[in-house]
Amino acid sequence: MKTIIEPFKIKSVEPIRMTDRPERERLLAEAHHNPFFLAADDVLIDLLTDSGTGAMSSEQWAGIMRGDESYAGSRSWVRFETAVKQIMGFEHVIPTHQGRAAERILFSTLCKTGDIVPNNTHFDTTRANIEFQGATALDLVIPEGKLPEVVHPFKGNMDVQALAAVITQYGPEKIPLIMLTVTNNSGGGQPVSMENIKEVARIAHKHGLPFYLDACRFAENAYFIKLREQGYGDKSAGEIAGEMFSYADGCTMSAKKDGLANIGGFLCTNDGQLAQQEKDLLILTEGFPTYGGLAGRDLDAIAVGLEEVLHEDYLEYRLASTRYLGEHIAEAGVPIVQPPGGHAIYIDAKAMLPHIPPIEFPGQALVCELYLEAGIRAVEIGSVMFGRVDPDTEEETPADMELVRLALPRRVYTQSHVDYAVEAIINVFERRNEIKGLRMTYQAEYLRHFTAKFEVVV
Ligand code: F0G
Repeated sequence: MKTIIEPFKIKSVEPIRMTDRPERERLLAEAHHNPFFLAADDVLIDLLTDSGTGAMSSEQWAGIMRGDESYAGSRSWVRFETAVKQIMGFEHVIPTHQGRAAERILFSTLCKTGDIVPNNTHFDTTRANIEFQGATALDLVIPEGKLPEVVHPFKGNMDVQALAAVITQYGPEKIPLIMLTVTNNSGGGQPVSMENIKEVARIAHKHGLPFYLDACRFAENAYFIKLREQGYGDKSAGEIAGEMFSYADGCTMSAKKDGLANIGGFLCTNDGQLAQQEKDLLILTEGFPTYGGLAGRDLDAIAVGLEEVLHEDYLEYRLASTRYLGEHIAEAGVPIVQPPGGHAIYIDAKAMLPHIPPIEFPGQALVCELYLEAGIRAVEIGSVMFGRVDPDTEEETPADMELVRLALPRRVYTQSHVDYAVEAIINVFERRNEIKGLRMTYQAEYLRHFTAKFEVVV
């Protein structure tokens, strides 16, 4: 059979509230043209994020009932720690309430003012947590990774020559760790090859530096390696993931992605002394080291999720459904980051809306238009998220790319939901010349995209 089906049946459903365009026009204006301010009930298809928005399986719900809520040493913790160690193989596992808490603990332990942290592309919370320590987050993705239309099987790879040059320029003593984000979310959900992981690890270790994975979407990355990298076609996703982690000294993880859970995260390391420091910090802000800000039941849901996410029927469906969305809009001429990523499709708003300059946020303008057209909520990954304002001149430096991300929650939407999104995107594409730019009227100092306010440029 050629048709790839959703490898699950639906046992419990949530109604979607229908809205019409006049209602959405009012709601978007009230939300200051920033869909983060919209109520979820006012959204038909929510592609804002794949983070914490997935549907749990019946086994995960059974795990919720098994949850042991003991403060210290609960059975849920044992199941969680065993699952993480089995899949990732690290010696120390530190649970946190989500990925950014793991980042905060890691960077506040390892980084100091003036340090440099290289990554393929830092996610926004990763960058913000590094900068909060007074350090610099450096993005070193390969040049192809910044060219939306260029097809490359592993566009998330790090430019290893650039990495070597950075180490020579600043000296290893300025670099507390080197990271790779798998898959590379801010760079289009693109995978990193095993060869690149191995090479980055080799360079890090040659200079005595720890090498970490931002492992949020490790299973999707492993399955891309299986499909695209020579020598991995006959290996299981679990074996490939195991090899990826074997080169790393630790990882940060948001279980809201490839943990298939609605909340949770963790930090891993093989360094016992570091783990002790991190646990001391954990107690201060997250909780005791056997629950770290999570309920016992959450730990159980994650333990089951980590095992289910490596099922290959699931991974085949997951990548196929994302590709389905990407290929259908690309066939109609919509410019997207090629090839389709694992968890999301990224529309190249700069190419689609050349009449809107970056300082008028073409990505955000497109996000607004998708909501008005069909109640679809997407997110801008461009100059709203990554643009910089000079504190003296107030001048905007735009981001490298102006993307709109359509992230697919795991196991939530069916093919007809995706068909609806395809139709809406094509409708907007056909009248793209009428779309107007935006002016930012409010911004916060950190992570401004969450709370920024806009008005339409007339
Ligand atoms: N690293 C990456 C690559 C991420 O994509 C995220 C979250 C985090 C770290 C932080 O994890 O949300 O659990 O604190 N990404 C979400 C997204 C929010 O929509 O892509 P968190």
